Amino acid sequence: MASLRSVALSAARQVASRPRIATAAPVRALSTSRVNRSDALFVHRDTDYNNPKIPFKFNEENLKQAKEIVSHYPPQYKKAAVIPLLDLGQRQNSGWTSISVMNYVAEFLEMPPMRVYEVASFYTMFNREPVGKYFLQLCTTTPCMLGGCGSELIQKTMEDKLGIKAGHTTPDKLFTLVEVECLGACANAPMVQVNDDFYEDLTPETTIKLLDGLKNGKPPKPGPQSGRHSSEAAEGRTALTSKPYGPGQHNVPEFA
Ligand code: FES
Repeated sequence: MASLRSVALSAARQVASRPRIATAAPVRALSTSRVNRSDALFVHRDTDYNNPKIPFKFNEENLKQAKEIVSHYPPQYKKAAVIPLLDLGQRQNSGWTSISVMNYVAEFLEMPPMRVYEVASFYTMFNREPVGKYFLQLCTTTPCMLGGCGSELIQKTMEDKLGIKAGHTTPDKLFTLVEVECLGACANAPMVQVNDDFYEDLTPETTIKLLDGLKNGKPPKPGPQSGRHSSEAAEGRTALTSKPYGPGQHNVPEFA
């Protein structure tokens, strides 16, 4: 009868004599697009312009509005008002949500500050760094990238005109430009949201006109900048009895 040692030796020899399976090559990344690393911190670090010692509280009008919002919820669920209250705070605080805004909202809703930080750091609508007077959110999702002259050309026009790259603020603190995902105005692509207003059907010319207008305090009317009404057909109204126009017959500028 084979001893335990000889069985173990024989098993080891069998393993050693098996054909070697090539070790897998390092896994290739599926995506070949450039990795954009943000230079913004996702954690809070106290700075001279953003620390809990800076006082914040709602002004009279916002206090009234906050109380009205909270009254829509049962008292035990008033923390459900955290998003609209953070929004109120951000609007009052020149378009960004500081740590003091978050702490104030937490105190107002009697909820742990960490719960408010979680909300404010999850939703991109809350800016946790100061932004310019005009917050330009340029949509670069596929329909805007492909629609009209394309959002890439609009982005380049804005960056050249303002002298900044997306994610940055002009030195005069007038403009902050960011790239965002679909804002729901795809039928009027390409488009940008300026503070609360949509500017649609942009071309390089209308983009420059928009930026000049904002700088001079005389912005153009929000909405389609092509002259069309809302999102009606770019070639004008059609009827079931009219000859349909085909692809490539739209009167849009060429992508440069
Ligand atoms: S893709 Fe730009 S608004 Fe929808």
